[in-house]
Amino acid sequence: MRDGTSAAADAALGELLDRIAGDPALEMEWVDLLSQLEYVGCRKIVKSVGFERISLEVLRHVAEEASHAFLLKSVAERGGRAGRSWRDGRFCEAGWRYFQGLDRGVSALSEDAALHYPGVAWAVERRVLEVYPEYAARTRNEDVRKALKRILAQEERHGAQFERSLFPPGYRERVIALEADLWGRFLAEARGLL
Ligand SMILES: [Fe+2]
Ligand SMILES: [Fe+2]
Repeated sequence: MRDGTSAAADAALGELLDRIAGDPALEMEWVDLLSQLEYVGCRKIVKSVGFERISLEVLRHVAEEASHAFLLKSVAERGGRAGRSWRDGRFCEAGWRYFQGLDRGVSALSEDAALHYPGVAWAVERRVLEVYPEYAARTRNEDVRKALKRILAQEERHGAQFERSLFPPGYRERVIALEADLWGRFLAEARGLL
């Protein structure tokens, strides 16, 4: 366990991932959701970083998050979800609520707009680095495993990059609490959709 998780949340995640890994049709719904979240993450970067602050590092982050969405959507399409809109995904709305809540909540924590991008990115990367390895350890789908391996190598670099961000005192704790609450709600909602 680490900051931002609880034994109950860890157990709920494990239980959800066990169900997903044991049901190929459900698993493709989950992969489609991950693809949606990667894309939304990519879009949030584009929307939250001003034109004058775009650097090579930001462009690399945008490109890599877009490639994660691409890899996962490719898996979902090969798994029978060809041409389907994310809008029609089983977990679509729950995923939106999580990301919108995080985006709005982190924005409301500080008037300094420059904190928005690293704040959201840091929270998301922390969660990704918890969830993806747990999921990779459970999936029986070789296509998924390969995609996750490629993605995780980049997420680890992103995680380390945002871990070095300079945040004001108390900011990290507030972001962690906010994200953990939204994540708990997401897990409960996802479970209700199984
Ligand atoms: Fe990603
Ligand atoms: Fe990332």
